[in-house]
Amino acid sequence: FEPVKIAPSILSADFANLARDVALVEEAGAGFLHVDVMDGHFVPNLTMGVPVVRSLKRATSLPLDVHLMVDNPLDQLPWYLDAGADSVTVHVEPLDAEGLARAVDEIRAAGAKAAASVKPGTPVEVLAPVLADLDMVLVMSVEPGFSGQGFIEGSEEKVARVAQLARAAGSSPLIEVDGGIGAATAGRVAAAGADVLVCGNAVFAADDPAAALAAVRDAAQK
Ligand code: DX5
Ligand code: ZN
Repeated sequence: FEPVKIAPSILSADFANLARDVALVEEAGAGFLHVDVMDGHFVPNLTMGVPVVRSLKRATSLPLDVHLMVDNPLDQLPWYLDAGADSVTVHVEPLDAEGLARAVDEIRAAGAKAAASVKPGTPVEVLAPVLADLDMVLVMSVEPGFSGQGFIEGSEEKVARVAQLARAAGSSPLIEVDGGIGAATAGRVAAAGADVLVCGNAVFAADDPAAALAAVRDAAQK
């Protein structure tokens, strides 16, 4: 049994002091660094891209967990693999079954971990055909697009459903949850089977990000 890992989302960090903020969470024991790539089309927000990932790769030894919120993941994922992503998460919504399988294959062929994500309104059952090949499943607990939103109640049931589907498929992907996670929600999603908790505002909007990260990890263990 592995303890729950925290993946701080740098979308909530200070972009003018990114190296400082990354060092802070690395020191505090983060498990991954979550990088939210948004294209202004798949989601109504534009964030960061390849140059930031490339620079982060040199600035930290934390695994870079790239969450691709873009309309054309098959076109873009090679860029991020090349820039040093350790895991790449594609959304299932812009892909058909064949495209999803191809994305997973391409990520793994590059030696990275493959993850697929579902928006709150997308049933987890669409993951079934690729479940055996996934290293991680990302359950969105807010509508993707912005940090600082409230956790959608009941998202923990979706986490439990993914865990159940994976068990039935004889597969054991990590389950990551993203959106509105803090000390108040961490226990519930961890109890439902989450292995990795993405935290944006809960960590970086706190006065003491290191203490906030520890508080979320502690809450997940209870
Ligand atoms: C939302 C992003 C999240 C976001 C999380 O679309 O995928 O990773 O940055 O931020 P919080 O934890 O503040 O909800
Ligand atoms: Zn994210």
